[in-house]
Amino acid sequence: MEMQNELVEALCLKHERTHSVYRLMRILVHSGFFVKQSVSTRPGSNDEEEGEGYLLAPVSRLLLKDEPLSVRPYLLAALDPMLIDPWQHMSDWFKNDDVTSFHTTHGMMFWDLLGQQPKLNQFFNEAMASDARLLTSVILENCRGIFEGLDSIVDVGGGTGTVAKAIAEGFPDIRCICFDLPHVVTSLVGSKNLSYVGGDMFEAIPNAHAVLLKWILHDWSDEECIKILKQCKEAIPSKKNGGKLIIIDMVVKVQQGENELLKTQLFLDMMMMSLVTGKERTEKDWAKLFVNVGFSDYKITPILGLRSLIEVYP
Ligand SMILES: C[S@@+](CC[C@H](N)C(=O)[O-])C[C@H]1O[C@@H](n2cnc3c(N)ncnc32)[C@H](O)[C@@H]1O
Repeated sequence: MEMQNELVEALCLKHERTHSVYRLMRILVHSGFFVKQSVSTRPGSNDEEEGEGYLLAPVSRLLLKDEPLSVRPYLLAALDPMLIDPWQHMSDWFKNDDVTSFHTTHGMMFWDLLGQQPKLNQFFNEAMASDARLLTSVILENCRGIFEGLDSIVDVGGGTGTVAKAIAEGFPDIRCICFDLPHVVTSLVGSKNLSYVGGDMFEAIPNAHAVLLKWILHDWSDEECIKILKQCKEAIPSKKNGGKLIIIDMVVKVQQGENELLKTQLFLDMMMMSLVTGKERTEKDWAKLFVNVGFSDYKITPILGLRSLIEVYP
């Protein structure tokens, strides 16, 4: 009798688990991570199995560990309590004078915390590198023209150099510099046409034919962006001599109606508000910054979903 009860209990538990998995899969299918497929009896087999199975949706490959262009590290960082907790502290932050909700939560600014905690620094840099791998593959395949004719380029806030390395390999005649805070680049070793330079972009940027800023300006307020852009302008030659900025960032298009891309852009804007002093910008916001610093012209090309390539000329 006792054994029978145990068996019934185990079966109920198994049923509950199976039901939980079914519910989990139901939302993953609904959200587009998996697709449902009916499984029919294998040809030539006597099995009478028939039912439903799940296939990974093509886009979910980007979340697999071993996929070369996986953005799993980026997703894990974005969902890490260190980045999520500041969302919980927004109401406290609205009532105090801290610069960011991140500061209210962790007692210091985002970049300072990374500078103090090597493990966290590595975790964040790997997250950024995974995004950079995906984006660079798209840019080098579809927008090679933006690098043609350049003899040097400096990737400002280039992290551990994923983008600079790819440009250096794809264009052996371009001298590439990956410029970032000293704690990010000190231990990194360059190659024939790639070097790492540590420094502060608010103070000075190494001279080059072009400056690349990928996912940098959205981290900073307008006042801070103007300071960075002034340093960029100092670092490049005139338009006549081919000087330019290549910005990879978002251009928010506030349209009417349902728009998934816009929703994600607006959530990223909230993320910038909670973590750093930055924001996501509309074309008008970008133009205002460029005019303020004395750039003469710009050109926007959408590249991958949320992000655009903005070429800016002195
Ligand atoms: C959002 S990450 C972008 C990294 C890289 N560009 C990418 O997209 O993969 C911002 C980068 O700016 C760097 N950074 C922050 N403050 C900086 C400063 N004052 N001078 C130079 N780099 C800075 C950070 O260390 C970080 O690598």
